[in-house]
Amino acid sequence: MRVLVSGSGGREHALVWKIARSPRVEAVWAAPGNDGMAGDAVRVPDVAAGDTEGLLRIARDEGIDLVVVGPEDPLVDGIADRLRDAGLAVFGPSAAAAQLEGSKTFAREFMARHGVPQPAFETFTDLDAALAQVRRAGGPCVVKADGLAAGKGVAVCDGPAEAERALREIMADRRFGSAGDRVLIEERLVGEEASYYAISDGERVVTLAPAQDHKRALDGDRGENTGGMGAYAPAPVVSEAVEKRVLEEVVHPTLRGMRSEGATYTGVLYVGLMVDAEGVPRVVEFNVRFGDPETQPLLVQMSGDLVPLLHGAATGALEPQTVAAEDAAVCVVLASGGYPRSYEKGKPIHGLEQASAREGVVVFHAGTRATPDGGYVTDGGRVLGVTARGPDVASARARAYAAADCIDFAGLHRREDIAARALDRAGRDG
Ligand code: AMP
Ligand code: GLY
Repeated sequence: MRVLVSGSGGREHALVWKIARSPRVEAVWAAPGNDGMAGDAVRVPDVAAGDTEGLLRIARDEGIDLVVVGPEDPLVDGIADRLRDAGLAVFGPSAAAAQLEGSKTFAREFMARHGVPQPAFETFTDLDAALAQVRRAGGPCVVKADGLAAGKGVAVCDGPAEAERALREIMADRRFGSAGDRVLIEERLVGEEASYYAISDGERVVTLAPAQDHKRALDGDRGENTGGMGAYAPAPVVSEAVEKRVLEEVVHPTLRGMRSEGATYTGVLYVGLMVDAEGVPRVVEFNVRFGDPETQPLLVQMSGDLVPLLHGAATGALEPQTVAAEDAAVCVVLASGGYPRSYEKGKPIHGLEQASAREGVVVFHAGTRATPDGGYVTDGGRVLGVTARGPDVASARARAYAAADCIDFAGLHRREDIAARALDRAGRDG
């Protein structure tokens, strides 16, 4: 099989790395890909992830059997529909189905229609009405831009002052452009978060190991929301009992609901969960693609072949199976100082080879650029995902941090507490 992956981040690097290791796969192309993918994929750097004509040209010229769409923006924009119309097998939902991520209001109203557990919410298009609401409510809340904002259009607020600031930033200063034409004000859920992935051909489902992301910039879940500063899998907060509830109360009703509304969902449904102290799961968000960085540890710990799942979902022939989580993996993101706000690029990266040579370690590139001398410089907010596999989370974590310690660049910022919660939990339970 010849596979084309679109996108350029750490998630896409992990996808091409895993797909390239499938015995069914002859070769992998990446459009545009990134400079770290050289060993695993043929890069087509002049074709962007949203470039329909460019992707069709690669598919035709290279005889591509399967296109895997990495990022959300092109999906929300309808790229899967356009590629499918041209006769290609595509992993990723239609524009209609991608509304589950493209509009947070659509997603909330959909969940309300289908009884999927979620926080209380209200939507606003008027700044003054939204300000009045947060003042009236008084307590903690979450303010969200309705549209796509690269995971950054969400403010988790302790009280009205913070919420007012977030509303002004989104609606008056328009920090996220038209994504902020509408906002949601949500009940602030408490508990522990997890990311759960259900691959589907619209009807049948194969789920992957639950993962946990670390969205805040600083240790102890302080600081601003980012795209994700690190992740690990499997996440023990999603116990068997919780997983059963998520399947029965979230995944199946959502797939059924999408079918009944004429927007059959295919691809991967990413369920962002909050699990409270009683083990009750509620949906924080849906995404319509793999998570980043979660995909990095998820695919590194996965022993089986991902390609039949992707191809089955793309062609309506997914074979139900259990994907066992035999090992664990931890990913520590190395970010540019200043991320998720402004940061400098072009800082030389040292120690990549030493890190990659360590046992169980794969270093995924997210924002790097190769230099003529064979080195790399920083070229994004999230620069690298240092990912390590081990028999359990504790050993994977030790390996990931030991590898991360090998790497340095000016302004490097990382969290020191990735996967710490899994260890606390193991300590409590064991
Ligand atoms: P989202 O982009 O909707 O996933 O939001 C980003 C992050 O904000 C989530 O991963 C949570 O950490 C937090 N968040 C979003 N909605 C809520 C909520 N209703 N209650 C508590 N935290 C939330
Ligand atoms: N890690 C969060 C996301 O991919 O949206």
